Amino acid sequence: MKIYSAIQPTGAIHLGNYAGAIMNWVKMQDEGECIYSIANYHSLTANKDPHTLPQRTFEAALDLLACGLDPQKCTLYVQSHIPEVTELTWILSCCAPIGELNRMTQFKDKSARMEVVNAGLFTYPILMASDILLFKAEVVPVGEDQLQHLEVARVFARRFNALFGETFPEPQSRLTKATRVMALNDPTKKMSKSVEGSAIMLSDPDNVIKKHVKRAVTDCGATPDGQMSPGVANMFTLLSVFSTPETVAHFQEQYQAGTLRYGELKEALSNDLVAAIAPIRERRAELAQKPDYVKEVLIESARKLRVTAKATLAEVREKTGLGVTPEA
Ligand code: TYM
Repeated sequence: MKIYSAIQPTGAIHLGNYAGAIMNWVKMQDEGECIYSIANYHSLTANKDPHTLPQRTFEAALDLLACGLDPQKCTLYVQSHIPEVTELTWILSCCAPIGELNRMTQFKDKSARMEVVNAGLFTYPILMASDILLFKAEVVPVGEDQLQHLEVARVFARRFNALFGETFPEPQSRLTKATRVMALNDPTKKMSKSVEGSAIMLSDPDNVIKKHVKRAVTDCGATPDGQMSPGVANMFTLLSVFSTPETVAHFQEQYQAGTLRYGELKEALSNDLVAAIAPIRERRAELAQKPDYVKEVLIESARKLRVTAKATLAEVREKTGLGVTPEA
């Protein structure tokens, strides 16, 4: 089985990325051939600071390795190290009706917040589909917010195969138990770096993690009868990922009986989050001392993957009639 996923280098990785996707990246290393990428081309749609991009890319690699990606078991590379993906993006973009891209909720949300909307933001799902299809991936571990983009990749695979002959598998998603981690300080919004104060970073010290959980919003006003408030539901989601089934059952029983004390729930959750995040932070600090090792991992991966990327491109060029590229 071929597994593919990617993350943008927006700085340190947050708990939403970890619980929503990266935990599965780590787990799936034992299930098949895993290819993971730091999507720096994608990040140009937003942050275009050339001075911080190399550092943000390096930090993402540190985080991912610290979370448990093992270079012996997976291939972790930087997206722009395999420029073939941009050629595939062009070819697929010529098979992409604009109407399909116009429906993307992430595009609608992000473009609404931008003064000038760049074309890259609009064609972003095509680049993402190309990432996946370039390596003929079959399974893609992501959080819920990427499902719509993944559906685009499936449509592109089907369409290309119909036009030019069987070439790409249709990639399936793989979700964790926490498909959409909400902001602790505003559980009506997704935990995200772009929502101020909403994210627990994997690099945060214990006291900061505890402060976040302590301040977590539990009451968001009236909820329909029998429905948990979003803040409490979010804490139960995190508990289901980071705590034992006994702990989850214990608090669920209390919730049902109407005796749940939020202070106790928060205490248990923050202890379990600290227990999960502290070792990652420590490994991250160790890896930060070995920048040459981290860079070598990325470069080796790109060398290896470029062979596959070139082979897919050669096949696509042949099938579409673009033909062979003459040697320089
Ligand atoms: P990105 O960088 O926004 O997020 C990386 C992963 O984290 C998940 N995620 C969340 N999951 C649960 N709750 C949250 N609050 C939360 N926030 C983020 C995302 O769903 C994602 O899985 N376009 C992608 C990167 C990408 C990609 C790809 C992914 C580029 N090429 C090919 C898969 C396959 C993105 O911006 O993810």
